[in-house]
Amino acid sequence: MSQPESSLMNRLVSLSKRRGFIFPASEIYGGLNGFWDFGPLGVQLKNNLRDAWWRAMVECPPMGLDGKPLSIVGIDTSIIQHPKTWEASGHVAGFSDLMVDCRETKARYRADHILVAEVRVRVKNNEQDSTLTEWLSTLDDEDAWETICKKAKKLFLKAGVVEKDIQVADRSTWKPLTDMPSGMGQAEVYGPDAKNKGTLTEPRAFNLMFHSYVGVFQSEDSKVYLRPETAQGIFLQYKNVLDTSRVKPPFGVAQVGKSFRNEVTPRNFIFRSREFEQMEMEFFVPPEDGMKWYEFWVAERMRWWEEQGVKKEHLFRHEIPDNERAFYSAATSDIEYLWPFTAPNFGELEGVAYRTDYDLTQHQKFSKVNLEYVDQENSRRYTPHVIEPASGLTRGVLLLLAESYQYDESRASPEWLKLKPSLAPIKAGVFPLVNKDGMPEVAEKLYLELRQNFTCQYDAKQSIGKRYARMDEAGTPFCITVDGDTLKDQNVTIRNRDTAQQERVALDHVKAYLAGKLV
Ligand code: GAP
Repeated sequence: MSQPESSLMNRLVSLSKRRGFIFPASEIYGGLNGFWDFGPLGVQLKNNLRDAWWRAMVECPPMGLDGKPLSIVGIDTSIIQHPKTWEASGHVAGFSDLMVDCRETKARYRADHILVAEVRVRVKNNEQDSTLTEWLSTLDDEDAWETICKKAKKLFLKAGVVEKDIQVADRSTWKPLTDMPSGMGQAEVYGPDAKNKGTLTEPRAFNLMFHSYVGVFQSEDSKVYLRPETAQGIFLQYKNVLDTSRVKPPFGVAQVGKSFRNEVTPRNFIFRSREFEQMEMEFFVPPEDGMKWYEFWVAERMRWWEEQGVKKEHLFRHEIPDNERAFYSAATSDIEYLWPFTAPNFGELEGVAYRTDYDLTQHQKFSKVNLEYVDQENSRRYTPHVIEPASGLTRGVLLLLAESYQYDESRASPEWLKLKPSLAPIKAGVFPLVNKDGMPEVAEKLYLELRQNFTCQYDAKQSIGKRYARMDEAGTPFCITVDGDTLKDQNVTIRNRDTAQQERVALDHVKAYLAGKLV
């Protein structure tokens, strides 16, 4: 099957815009970098993914290590918390990225997002051949190779070098700017958008938390932060949950909500944005059981993503080595996905961290409130250890779009989304074949009945082929058509999105038919 020219990411961005999944925020004012709005189809898809997660965590959690259902409760905490929260958690002191500025272009980059490539050029000097080495850089994205080759040509062809004498080192040898020998990244490298070399500054730490002020006076005393993760709200309420719900370790507290990070280089569409949603669960366990539960949650979360329609081979467990983990974490695995912009490599979708008792101990220290658990059965007190599966909801929507995207020129809409039916924004389209001869009345009646249970859309405009195509692009699994025969035999045609096959189903059986397929 031939594929269109533009990259998969560009096609996802344009399909999202054209069909109302995701729009650039503040678009009429030129947009705001790192902010996105979810349109009618996008919000529906996002809510469906959120609801599937909530159901799997809170309403119907998996069976635990003893074969009994786990106990996990939900919570919804404030985005703005007492500023001491972020001192205790370590975010005020340490939640930062290294960034560099370009003195020539005034652009700002995350240092570890800049990739440096060695370019060798053969030059003739007084009739003698010599080799010149230059260091060109680019942002680490799917166009990185093309970008470096284009820049190398631009730089050296202008200087009279012929193309065959320019040799760009193999991509596998390129280094992040942060790995260049000290000072060399600043003196020798051409910045990603610069014409001259040596214009990048030394890397500097940049705190990622957005701040504001509470009340009318703006001073250090009234400074507050927009939460950079939902997790801390759970730790702050851990004791209240313990005291008011019938839970005891092992138990979990789950939360879904907005988080904010002033990312230095937001990019790859909604993969890394400045305002995003997270789905996090903190699982509190007796200290001696920490590693068992960590392994349990890594396996469970990989299984859950597969259940949402992600191919096994598109997921990868990346165990973070000891020297790269947060100091308080006894073990961490990233669940990675084969993103279009990281392929053939994988990139983070969700993190599962064994956070030990770090957070509760810190909040205990800063608040001076005892957060120990009193285990009366075993006559002991302890600060529970925590396993945290932390995943991005908005990042999950990008995954669903990328994973479900299909391209088939033989179909009315070459681009279509093979979403898991229960996650699809619209479950069924209901159409009269033509907008006359009694068909609209029957179709409308069916639509009014079905919408009580399923998200449906009634559409009587354009040819039937065009209506199928629109639904395919939205990922709608079923299209139900009322035609001339329906009036005689009380049957409708149901078209299956994935096979494009049609079958006749009795009008009064359509609801049961959909219920059976939308699991
Ligand atoms: N409480 C732990 C925590 O927040 P994290 O790895 O920083 O860990 C968890 O974030 C998940 O949140 C990530 O795996 C990712 O899916 C999502 N996420 C983090 N930063 C994001 C951003 N700027 N834009 C979109 N999603 C983001």
